[in-house]
Amino acid sequence: MTDLAQDSLAAAQAPLTQAKSMPAGFYTSEDIFTAERQNILLKHWSFAGREDQLPTPGDYKAIDTAGGPVVLLRGDDGQVRAFANFCRHRGSILLEGSGNCRRIVCPYHAWSYFTDGKLYGCPDMEDAEGFDRVENGLIPVRMETWEGFIFITFNQNAPGLAHHLGDLPGRMASHRLGEMRCTWTLTIECACNWKLLLENAMETYHTGTVHKDSVGAQTSRTLKTEGQWLCLQVISGRSIATLPGTTPAFPAIEGLDEDARQGTYFTVIHPTCQFAVAQDSMWWLNVLPKAADRSVLEVGGCFPQQVTERADFADNAAAYYQRWEQVAREDVEILERQQIALGSVLYRPGPLSTRDDLVQQLSLWVLNQLPNH
Ligand code: FES
Ligand SMILES: [Fe+2]
Repeated sequence: MTDLAQDSLAAAQAPLTQAKSMPAGFYTSEDIFTAERQNILLKHWSFAGREDQLPTPGDYKAIDTAGGPVVLLRGDDGQVRAFANFCRHRGSILLEGSGNCRRIVCPYHAWSYFTDGKLYGCPDMEDAEGFDRVENGLIPVRMETWEGFIFITFNQNAPGLAHHLGDLPGRMASHRLGEMRCTWTLTIECACNWKLLLENAMETYHTGTVHKDSVGAQTSRTLKTEGQWLCLQVISGRSIATLPGTTPAFPAIEGLDEDARQGTYFTVIHPTCQFAVAQDSMWWLNVLPKAADRSVLEVGGCFPQQVTERADFADNAAAYYQRWEQVAREDVEILERQQIALGSVLYRPGPLSTRDDLVQQLSLWVLNQLPNH
């Protein structure tokens, strides 16, 4: 890659005890960003939301993706689908935010669509020769779900989601994530490269400093994974989904396996999604890369359905939301400063700690997807 000097890449690929960080261009070059979009973001599966965020027929959620605007939509038949979120006439965006609709009506010239994507109405099109309603429904986006988590891809040839997730479903089986409900989301605009967000999530080296006023120092172990994901476990017999001074209000999920009881799984599901799975809840951090130095982070929080039905749920969930938000903002703040330094003409890749093992693995995963690396 032209923006990555070969000697720097060799140092980044050295054994961990001799390895250095990736060169600055990996995080600052628009050419690298374009190559990542083609070879990674449009090629793999991306997390898009939870099915339970669309509980009722007609519910929709418009999302921004690496491949353009997409809408998740629960049809009148109860099925959740993903479509390109624009009109087949002349391309107006159809839906924004989230809500419920009986028909999707284009705000431009009022073509309309059923909730399963079929074209419903198209005024004054009688004289258009060869016009075929069936061919002018919304464009479907390839979508698969696992335990209520929706993933999409723009690559018709990508191996299925189960192949992508490898042994993640087995590792998380005792959490019964399919029984969870998403009760909270937060969106943060970040002036940093998408990979900094994910690398940060894969080490606890920083937690005693960056998070000294919140979660504090943590110890973790790296777990072996198969498939397109990485995992470390932060060791703590109690859930770390609330801050250390507060006692988690909700009980541990019944039937957690021996490993799951030891702590919280922090994962990166390549390329842009992180699931954090604690003994009583899970939260995701999903990154939408916008430019080499700009990303959007969405944080979402989920609890077992029966917990969300408790009378004291809202009062006690607030402590979880506060922790998830505070820690995410602490991370973004330090990463935005790191991004500024990466733009310095004097920047040189620094040596890695053995606690940066997954930082290195993550960078090399990305590098290996790029042509001529
Ligand atoms: S762009 Fe939608 S009806 Fe014209
Ligand atoms: Fe952090």
